[in-house]
Amino acid sequence: NQPVAGGAAGGIPADIRCAQDYEIVAQRTMAEPSYAYVAGGSGRDLTVAANLAAFSQWSMYPRVLRDVKDGHTRVALGTQTFLHPILLAPVAFQKLAHPAGEIDTARAAQAMDSCMVCSTLASCRLEDVAHAAGAHKWFQLYFQTNRSDTLALLARAEAAGFSAIVVTLDASIQVASTRALQAGFRMPADCVAVNVQDASAGQPAQDIELSPGDSRIFQGVMRAAPTWPDLAWLMTQTSLPVWVKGVLHPDDARALQAAGVAGVVVSNHGGRSLDGAPASLTVLPAIRAAVGDDFPLLLDGGIRSGADVFKALALGADAVLVGRLQMYALSVAGALGVAHMIKLLREELEVCMAQAGCATLRDISSEALLRCS
Ligand code: FNR
Repeated sequence: NQPVAGGAAGGIPADIRCAQDYEIVAQRTMAEPSYAYVAGGSGRDLTVAANLAAFSQWSMYPRVLRDVKDGHTRVALGTQTFLHPILLAPVAFQKLAHPAGEIDTARAAQAMDSCMVCSTLASCRLEDVAHAAGAHKWFQLYFQTNRSDTLALLARAEAAGFSAIVVTLDASIQVASTRALQAGFRMPADCVAVNVQDASAGQPAQDIELSPGDSRIFQGVMRAAPTWPDLAWLMTQTSLPVWVKGVLHPDDARALQAAGVAGVVVSNHGGRSLDGAPASLTVLPAIRAAVGDDFPLLLDGGIRSGADVFKALALGADAVLVGRLQMYALSVAGALGVAHMIKLLREELEVCMAQAGCATLRDISSEALLRCS
């Protein structure tokens, strides 16, 4: 009965014993409006709540007498092999959490053999982020209003050494978070999307007051929103693998597979896009069934523990991305905090695997779970 997860490390608050504790401790370390901005979703947070609740609907079976002594957490995604299946989701404006911003997150990813996905809306130069990151670094792309600006970003990401492009398609329009508005959140002046030409272009539109027939929606922001031909065009412009993030419908996943994307990220943007969208974990089994066993699928939304990672893998994901937890850990202890959070998640996953009798990630199947509500 040796406890293997948690425990104090230098610079880490002693009350952090599991990855999820970063969520609690960050409420002390972040300014309240900034915490509300990160924690909140769009609208009334229905999808934020659904993402978290979906994981509690599943229990894991412990199994006896299985030999797991040669166990490991290695996973192949496309042509790349990772030591564990925990990636860092693209999260914008990381200087909100820590003055070093994305640079510290990149250093943590390198230290923990994780893959950082750098946001288009990073608050540090993407070249500096790439320099600080390790072997595994991907770039998240938002289509810009002009193709030339999109191409310029793509060229910079390629030149900086990012090895895959993750194009996010679920955030052409975003409604402001009620929670952030109530907390009086305003983006600080020193927290800027430094990699985009015009810091307001290509960003998800914020603070839209919805009114029927509002010309700022269909003829406004959505006029420049990408459609299928834009994705096909993008794929001709790069030799890097192109993943698509923000997919919840099995038909979309199947069409993207047919279009030749490298893989799909099953995601509802952490509940920050369509409020009322299903939890990503809920739709995952149907998407896995639609694309078959071998097509690469990632999942994000609501991952707060190694048990959550285990459940996502059991229901069809090859690996997961962690969003908010990295911002919380960054605010608590910078690079050390993010590295520690990844370490805790990995240890928690390994404990679940050992107790469930799974020596490798391939052994984790839906048979390891029981639907409990
Ligand atoms: C995000 N997310 C996001 N996604 C993306 O593709 N580009 C981006 O710039 C951002 N920015 C961003 C900022 C903040 C503050 C949050 C919380 C999230 C979404 C992110 O990649 C991921 O999909 C969710 O965060 C996953 O849910 P959890 O792990 O936060 O529950």
